[in-house]
Amino acid sequence: MKSELYDVSETLALRQRLRRLRKSESLRLLLAETRLSSSDFIYPIFVDQRLSEAEEIASMPGIYRHSLSGLKNEISEVVSLRIPAVLLFGLPKRKDALGSEAYTANGIVQQAVREVKKVAPQLTVATDVCLCQYTDHGHCGVIRDGRVENDETVNLLSKIAVSHAEAGADIVGPSAMMDGQVKALRQALDERGLDETLIMSYSAKFASGFYGPFREAAESAPQWGDRRSYQMDPPNRQEAIREIEMDIAEGADIVMVKPALSYLDLIREARAKFSLPLAAYNVSGEYSMIKAAGQRDWLDEKRIALEVLTSIKRAGANIIITYFAKEAAKWLRNAN
Ligand code: PBG
Repeated sequence: MKSELYDVSETLALRQRLRRLRKSESLRLLLAETRLSSSDFIYPIFVDQRLSEAEEIASMPGIYRHSLSGLKNEISEVVSLRIPAVLLFGLPKRKDALGSEAYTANGIVQQAVREVKKVAPQLTVATDVCLCQYTDHGHCGVIRDGRVENDETVNLLSKIAVSHAEAGADIVGPSAMMDGQVKALRQALDERGLDETLIMSYSAKFASGFYGPFREAAESAPQWGDRRSYQMDPPNRQEAIREIEMDIAEGADIVMVKPALSYLDLIREARAKFSLPLAAYNVSGEYSMIKAAGQRDWLDEKRIALEVLTSIKRAGANIIITYFAKEAAKWLRNAN
């Protein structure tokens, strides 16, 4: 097709020299179309009820499982780096078939939320609402006849969300990929006067190999089978859009695409189709790959991490959930 604007006729080609735009550092700074900032980030934090001091996660260098009492330092650092929000994951002292530690008032996440709010009331606290860290079988729901039962699971997810919100969570993030979970959570929260709690739905969450390091970190790998009967099948783009549409109809405040890097097309499409805030989860495997290559000097870790985070924002994410949040905030601070 011939276009007036981009006619590559000889004269025009001579006049249009795009390299002029890249001439100097200050020009590049002036013309950058995407600007990464620490305010784009949510930092995920693991809290372990069994620990008295922090333990580094072997497959995620630089990321720790924290004890409840050790959370303070981590939170102060997050605040000083001007990261506006954290996402809490809990490891309970005890697991059972129904994941009951997930919805007790004194569960690990509920205690952690109260602790964070005490240390930094201004920090936004989001929680992951799921059962897999709390069930002895490691699935994200209740098992009936060898399958994850949808509606019973949704009831438990609602109880988890209410208990997190009652502890003071600002945002609850249902991540179990059960049908109707957003609607049930909204209803349960509203019935208890928790109408100010936001729902950030893991809307298009794929059954991904990139969650590997997280499952080691959170000890949440399924003991049998896999999550493919509830998490999405990676080849499906249209179905992902349906998942997001449904969550919006059910009352989600923020929708999410997860993982980020292999699903940038969906971030782009969701940004174009919907006007809600859009989060992208730069998941554990995406972090660990860069860390591992960086440790071997195969890649420049800082450069690659910032390039990846920029690509997620450029694709259209307003919020990036990333284990790089603290490091990236430091790199960005030093660059400015
Ligand atoms: C819980 C949950 C998972 C992640 C976030 N919430 C694991 C899973 O679905 O198996 C993965 C996050 C990451 O890999 O960083 N359902």
